[in-house]
Amino acid sequence: MKKLLDILTEEVAGAFEKAGYDSSRARVSVSNRPDLCEYQCNGAMALAKVAGKAPFMIAEDVVKCMEDSKIFKDIEVVKPGFINLNVNEEFLASYLLDMGKDDMLGVDKVSSPKNIVIDFGGANVAKPLHVGHLRSAVIGESIKRICRFMGNNVIGDAHLGDWGLQMGLITVELEERKPELPYFDENFEGEYPTEPPFTISELGEIYPCANTKSKEDEDFKEKARKATLEIQNGRRGYRALWKHILNVSLPDLKKNYDNLGVSFDFWGKESDAHEIIPDMVKYLKDGGYTTVSEGALVVEVKEDTDKKEIPPCMILKSNGATLYNTTDLATIVSRMKDNNADHIIYVVDNRQDLYFETVFRCARKTKIVKEDTELTFLGFGTMNGPDGKPFKTRDGGVMRLDNLVNEINEAVYAKIMENRETSSEEAKQTAKVIGLAALKYGDLSNQASKDYVFDINKFISFEGNTGPYILYTIVRIKSILSKYADSLNSSVDNIGLEGYEILSAKSACEKNLEMTLAKFNEVIVNAYEELAPHKICAYIYELSDNFNKFYHETKILSEEDESRKKSYIALINLVKATLEKSIFLLGFEAPDRM
Ligand code: ARG
Repeated sequence: MKKLLDILTEEVAGAFEKAGYDSSRARVSVSNRPDLCEYQCNGAMALAKVAGKAPFMIAEDVVKCMEDSKIFKDIEVVKPGFINLNVNEEFLASYLLDMGKDDMLGVDKVSSPKNIVIDFGGANVAKPLHVGHLRSAVIGESIKRICRFMGNNVIGDAHLGDWGLQMGLITVELEERKPELPYFDENFEGEYPTEPPFTISELGEIYPCANTKSKEDEDFKEKARKATLEIQNGRRGYRALWKHILNVSLPDLKKNYDNLGVSFDFWGKESDAHEIIPDMVKYLKDGGYTTVSEGALVVEVKEDTDKKEIPPCMILKSNGATLYNTTDLATIVSRMKDNNADHIIYVVDNRQDLYFETVFRCARKTKIVKEDTELTFLGFGTMNGPDGKPFKTRDGGVMRLDNLVNEINEAVYAKIMENRETSSEEAKQTAKVIGLAALKYGDLSNQASKDYVFDINKFISFEGNTGPYILYTIVRIKSILSKYADSLNSSVDNIGLEGYEILSAKSACEKNLEMTLAKFNEVIVNAYEELAPHKICAYIYELSDNFNKFYHETKILSEEDESRKKSYIALINLVKATLEKSIFLLGFEAPDRM
């Protein structure tokens, strides 16, 4: 469906033309004086010079041509040449009816769908998920849903970190603890056990222990580095152990992401790139793209126009080892081959900005991507604690994601139990749903690139710009609708938009609510184009506020005029659908009661 503002603009542009003026400046925007009018057009002012006429006169000529407009009413010219406009209620109602009948609620899919790969999550195998991974997961999931909703072919890729030092650390730590295991015996030629030599909770203890050791003991760290290289080079026993680490970690990681309502279409890993690296290196060398710098194989990516220092993209270290760079570049190779990617989006911490800049430049320069393949670094800021420093546990440690989620859920649970008498089982389930919304909305309502403060009390509040407030609004509507359905001996699912008709006298708050609803497609397309879920948050906050104002001023169920009541019901049903679609795109859902 056309965006409302575009329809309004076309209407005014038509009048400019009819009056004999250039219509290219006839843009309609939301009024910046809502006390005077709903929309405005400032085109007459922009035209005055070229037309050699006073803006007021131009505006008057234009307005004369709109006298029988079915789209506008109360058209007014205001000095020095503003055209103030209100939208016709019948037209607005018919627009909303069309929106309500459409599965996409008026959003047009993109005309040519793209293959989009979204690299998010980025969890590291065998290391607990920490809050840094939360942002990638939450933002990435929403971007994935938005891109898919717009009709693209989207692949969410977890791109797990399984090729780094942590694997070597675990290996040497285990070797110290259980040297008798066959994995460490270089002469062992038999089959390795199929059972892993540790459980997930043991693994959860081994890694932090080895990590601490490596910080205190340079020798230990060196051993771990060596082991990491040996894993990468394919030492048989180490590889078998590495596989166990992966197999034990994966279900746990999946469970964690599941609890966040985050899913991936592809559980890619850094190690997947390993096999294609030799071919890629050959390609880079044969193409003449590489140079050798202090023994390392690099691709120079700096350009004369650079204002900052851009380091070369290192492909192989002087000892032949591969780097994070190398796997990322090779991963792009496979994304081109397997997914024919038109656009790859990386949802990663801001601090990797320069790193990705070099990788992207390298991929372009070496023609690993198509000329028109888009590469986007969607960097996110840090989640800070109330002290403004990166979020930590009370005793200063790194906060684990599952603990954070539990903390929120418990706080919400306590709140529910304090407010009403619900069975504790139901309250627990509801607390999970609300807690997740609180967490995600608290994150997503900020522009991704900015740091934000994690404030649990603010996030779980049922009032203000929070996830629970949005859910509360949806629950309120659900409850009105189910009472209405009960009164008809019907079910909520049978309530559609029937009866949504044009009522002459609309309250200002009702019309306001309608105009907000009508913006949905504009907001979603904008959030998609800018990869900005926070725009959806701002929108549903406004929509919820406008609904609640309407609700407080309007008797809905006790309205005596049946047709008016039906119209109200249809309207709030559309508000509910719009809010639900929006929170789906943000990655959470509403409970039935709260
Ligand atoms: N595993 C990395 C980390 O924890 C994030 C991976 C981001 N994605 C990528 N393609 N490099 O920092």
